[in-house]
Amino acid sequence: MQLLKYLQSQGLGSRKQCQWLIDNDCVTINGALWNNPKSVIEPDTVKTLNIDGDDVVVVPMPYFYILLNKPADFETSHKPQQYPSVFSLFPDHMRNIDMQAVGRLDADTTGVLLITNDGQFNHRMTSPKHKAAKIYRVTLKHAADDSLCETLKHGVLLHDDNETVRAAEAFLADEKTLIMTITEGKYHQVKRMVAAAGNRVEHLHRDKFSDWDTQDLGFGEWKFI
Ligand code: URA
Repeated sequence: MQLLKYLQSQGLGSRKQCQWLIDNDCVTINGALWNNPKSVIEPDTVKTLNIDGDDVVVVPMPYFYILLNKPADFETSHKPQQYPSVFSLFPDHMRNIDMQAVGRLDADTTGVLLITNDGQFNHRMTSPKHKAAKIYRVTLKHAADDSLCETLKHGVLLHDDNETVRAAEAFLADEKTLIMTITEGKYHQVKRMVAAAGNRVEHLHRDKFSDWDTQDLGFGEWKFI
């Protein structure tokens, strides 16, 4: 990939801006100055990228996959209405790159959120056919017993929906903590299922999405996977 194109792919500016960076000796890759816009760079070989004295995050190309531990009070949207966008948690230059969340978490929901520029991966992970498991830790308003889990596994009819939805797995960690696995991603699905089963969600945290969990990440932290 040409150096100029590579810098653009990293979200570092327009063609003109990236040309300026190269012409003004502002681009250092793996410790060496790159000042010929026509040089060819193999994206996989880039370990460090320094622009005008600042190290910037190197985004794997052509595809990247990010695991974010979403904090509360952030919206999974590029056009948030009430809270800041989850995309504001990333460095400035990454916001110029096509980044799409794999499904959504509500503003008040925390935990595993995948972000990618790979549309096929996104489609596969969100398609109900693929049955990617999503495990939620649900803090309940009312103390519950195993009958709640049985109801959720048996299936509940969601308001305004003609379909019964079932939890793939459900158990109580304690009387107010439900661990529930679902394989679809309907709008407010967990909150609506728990409400349909006669309880209420006080807090929702996604512990796991398919193979990924946030055990080594604090809220707002992220990593490439
Ligand atoms: N189900 C919900 O109700 N909310 C979420 O954020 C995710 C799943």
